[in-house]
Amino acid sequence: MTQNTLPGWPFISYREQQLHVEDCDLGSLALEHGTPLFVYSKASMLAALAAYQRGFAGRDAQICYAMKANSSLAVLQVFARAGCGFDIVSGGELARALAAGAQPRKIIFSGVGKTRAEMRDALIAGIGCFNVESEAEIDVLNAVALSMGKVAPISVRVNPNVDPKTHPYISTGLKGNKFGIAHERTLATYQHAAALPGLKVLGIDCHIGSQITEEVPYLDALDRVLDLVASIENAGIPIAHIDLGGGLGINYNGDTPPAADALWCKLLERLDARGYGQRKLMVEPGRSLVGNAGVCVTEVLYLKYGEQKNFCIIDAAMNDLPRPAMYQAFHTITPLDERRRPSADAPVFDVVGPICESGDWIGHDRALSVQQGDLLAVLSAGAYCMSMASNYNSRGRAAELLVDGATAHLIRRRDTLADQMQAERLCADN
Ligand code: LLP
Repeated sequence: MTQNTLPGWPFISYREQQLHVEDCDLGSLALEHGTPLFVYSKASMLAALAAYQRGFAGRDAQICYAMKANSSLAVLQVFARAGCGFDIVSGGELARALAAGAQPRKIIFSGVGKTRAEMRDALIAGIGCFNVESEAEIDVLNAVALSMGKVAPISVRVNPNVDPKTHPYISTGLKGNKFGIAHERTLATYQHAAALPGLKVLGIDCHIGSQITEEVPYLDALDRVLDLVASIENAGIPIAHIDLGGGLGINYNGDTPPAADALWCKLLERLDARGYGQRKLMVEPGRSLVGNAGVCVTEVLYLKYGEQKNFCIIDAAMNDLPRPAMYQAFHTITPLDERRRPSADAPVFDVVGPICESGDWIGHDRALSVQQGDLLAVLSAGAYCMSMASNYNSRGRAAELLVDGATAHLIRRRDTLADQMQAERLCADN
């Protein structure tokens, strides 16, 4: 059998010239389930998780999957069964995590705008920690916990003012961002929180951004967090855990982020050197666990040649794959049939969806040797695609499959038209 693994996507390969995810032929899956179709590799997710687990071997550490990256129930189930906790940001994510089998005490609740109702639900569930982001939130959480006769475990998210060198929309640890508590306010905030009877201070956390491809911002953030831990503990408030957030990048277009185990080797060296190596560690990875596990299979509907541009119009759109429109993000696009990989003289196209907006593009200036009716795979589509998908233009959300070896499980059926309208009502005549 001829096999060409795609460099950067170890669980995706051309076998007998047809693109496969693990042992499943994507063309056959598209024929059976239609397009656009998301297909995820379970082995890829577990391999990505294993890199973190290797990095933490012998340490007291908790990996909390940041489920905003991909919150499909069966994906959550894979991580719950593998022992992960979850980083949630809403009551909806709490309900999903619990439905997928999460252990409540391994759930941490991040986000700048938790409502009282969400706090109550999380306290009832018995989650492990609230990552609080403002002094006002601290007071509200204290009041909610007291009203329920409970004590809320907290960690304060600090803003280390470190530049993660990523897209401005996904950098979160700079002074101008809405996230976390400023470095200078941190000690006072901890002193305030520690004095409140409805709260128990457990840890400290930060998250500096997403799609980070360098080690230095992490090491800088760690140093700043450890400086804060020292000053908070000097004030008599013990910090049991240190949570460094998520943010590790993946390969989209030849990107070479450090492997999770290599990154953690460096971070643990720094922790050890500064005497904090025995603390409980937490991380909140999202993209790096699921991003390269997923592809979106889509059909070429039309090729349209123009004077200035050629367009390859596909049946997936910005409602399925919002990252190019939102962040000018690059996703590799490759044909399912290896013989249709672009030849040297292949024409260049903008790959666009059917949505009525010029912003509805999936790839700019791509050399393609495809024909109408061909199938393409948009790679690195496991993170922040389905979880950000919408019904814009009244398009149904795509179906999702989870591949495990030679078996493909349908984990979400395609939206029906009834699904789209079921929550709505016409007005009665009056
Ligand atoms: N923890 C917190 C508090 C976060 O805000 C995030 C992501 C994560 C963890 C996980 O970060 P990751 O490991 O996935 O980088 N939609 C954007 C990414 C937004 C990230 C938001 N926060 C995109 O498609 O690039």
